[in-house]
Order: sequence, then structure tokens, then C-alpha cells
Amino acid sequence: MDNSKIRKIGVLTSGGDAPGMNAAIRSVVRSCIFNNIIPVGIYRGYKGLVRKNFVTMQSHSVSKIIQLGGTILKSSRLPEFATDKLLRKMAIDNLREDLIDALVVIGGDGSFRGANLLSEEFGYPIVGIPGTIDNDIYGTDYTIGFDTAINTAMEAIDKIRDTADSHNHLFFVEVMGRDAGFIATYTAIATGAEATVIPEVHTSIESICTYMQTERRKNKTSGIVIVSEGSELGSAVEIAAKVNEILPDYKTRVTTLGHIQRGGSPSTRDRVLASLLGNYAVNALRDGKSGVMVGIKGGQVSYTPFKEACSRHNPIDANMLEIAKILSI
Ligand code: F6P
Repeated sequence: MDNSKIRKIGVLTSGGDAPGMNAAIRSVVRSCIFNNIIPVGIYRGYKGLVRKNFVTMQSHSVSKIIQLGGTILKSSRLPEFATDKLLRKMAIDNLREDLIDALVVIGGDGSFRGANLLSEEFGYPIVGIPGTIDNDIYGTDYTIGFDTAINTAMEAIDKIRDTADSHNHLFFVEVMGRDAGFIATYTAIATGAEATVIPEVHTSIESICTYMQTERRKNKTSGIVIVSEGSELGSAVEIAAKVNEILPDYKTRVTTLGHIQRGGSPSTRDRVLASLLGNYAVNALRDGKSGVMVGIKGGQVSYTPFKEACSRHNPIDANMLEIAKILSI
């Protein structure tokens, strides 16, 4: 599309919310206004697109939101959007009826799957911004929300360490990350956890038990095993129970950090990342780009086709896993 024809851009947040989404919305809205484009907020992700829950935004609509967690536009999960073409047709009709020329989708791989179909089937200009605490989107080094989430998890695990040490407890702490172990790996290094269980690496209950019984470990007064929720061994509760069957003398405890990892005021890194990506997304649409996610790779802006962004994950750096192991002996 000729960029001079873009008069209105819609923006929505979809899937699991992530701290920094508001900073991204603010950046999209203000970058639009800077370029004489009318920004339109779409509430509740794809649900709002189908139900035409639109509101024209002004510069003041996004005042004082950069420090807020969650998303002022609300979010939702609508897996049917990727399977039901009728929903996508309704969405496109709504966008066209309101003369919205292009769309910015802030979300994770599920959201980009829907965006990809919408853009391919109807030739509609869409650019994505990676927003998920999981950091599992291919095509960007970091996703919006990851930095805040790992800091939240780190603070919680530091507190758990205090009580674990006082009672010689072995804690199993479950962190989020359905398909990826980024949150687990980063927090394990940052908190000096004794072991990590992540979806990307095969681990057995026996190997966790063997490790717990090494001489060096036996001299420690507490233990923390960080479990990614997507681990092949099951939840932290299940893993703790299995370990306890083999090592009945260990006093095990379990904490599931859950959704506290998704909330809270975004970190500086997330605010800056979101602000840059929001601006890059508007510029990408003005430059005639579509069907891509904007990200940052090695300090440079990158454009990854939706198809690639939602079909694979960034691998966990093997070096990081190795270092986590070396430092936990
Ligand atoms: O947004 C990503 C994520 O937080 C995953 O880590 C987690 O598996 C999932 O969302 C939980 O989603 P919901 O809140 O919809 O249950």
C-alpha cells in the first residue's frame, strides 16, 4: 500500500498480557499522531475486532500509562479466530467500514497466527509487536514483558531462599513458560538455583535426585529447583512428590509463582523496548510493510514474517544452560 494512503491505524493487544504493553500502545498512538494518522484502539483483542469495539484515541488517551502493567485496551484469547474464516471476514468488514487502513497487533505467537491469516486472506496491512512474558517469539532477542517478569520471579525466589535456608527445605518453584524455558533459565542464573527443569532439555527425576545427593550439595542448607510450567516431567507439585518418593528424608516445599509474573509496573528495559517497537511498527506500515513482526535482533530492528514468528521459537542459549550448571555446583 502507498503509505500516503494510510489515514487510520488500529491497535490491539491479544493473548496473555505482558508488562510494557501499555508503553507499546502509547508509542503506537503517539507515533500515529506525529505522522498525521488517526489511531484507533480496539478493545479485547480479536474479540473487539469481531464485535467492533473501537475507540478513536488522542494523545491524552495514553497519558500516564507508560508505568502501568496490564493493558488499557484489555486482552483476550480467541483461538477460533485462527480456525473460523467467518470471524476473520467480520473483523475485516468492521475495519473497512470504519476506514481503518492498517492494524498493529501486540501479542504472542497465537496472536500472530490470526494476524497472518487476516493479512494473507484479505491483503490487509498488519504489523506485529512481540508482547509476551515467555520471550519465546522467533525473530526478536527479547519480547515485551520478559524483563519485568524475570525480575518479579527473581525477587520472589530470593524471598523463598530466605525461608528455605532457615528450615533446610528443598523448594520446587514453578515459573511460567508453557513452551519455553527462558523465564526459568534466566531466574535460575540470577538466583543461584540448584537445578532447572525446562521444556527444551530432557531431564529425569532420577538425575534430579542423584544431583541432590552429591557431597557438595549435601553441605548446602537449602535447595531451589526452578521448574518451567511446560516441563515434560509435569508440574512442580508432581515433580516434588516424585522426588520425595525417592528421597523421603528431604523436606520439600512447592511454590507456584503463577500470574504475579504477568503483572506489575514494567521495567525500564520493557518500557524502552515497547516504545521503540511501537514506533517501528507504525513506520513499517507507512513504509508499505505488512505480514511481519517488528523486533530487535543484535541491537538492530528486524522484520520477521508472521509465518516464521509463529512457527518456531528462539532456542535457549546452550552456553547459558552450561553456565547455570557450573555455577550451581
Ligand atoms: O502469556 C504467556 C503465559 O503467561 C504463559 O506463560 C502461560 O502458560 C499462559 O500465558 C497462561 O495463560 P492464561 O492466563 O490464559 O491461563
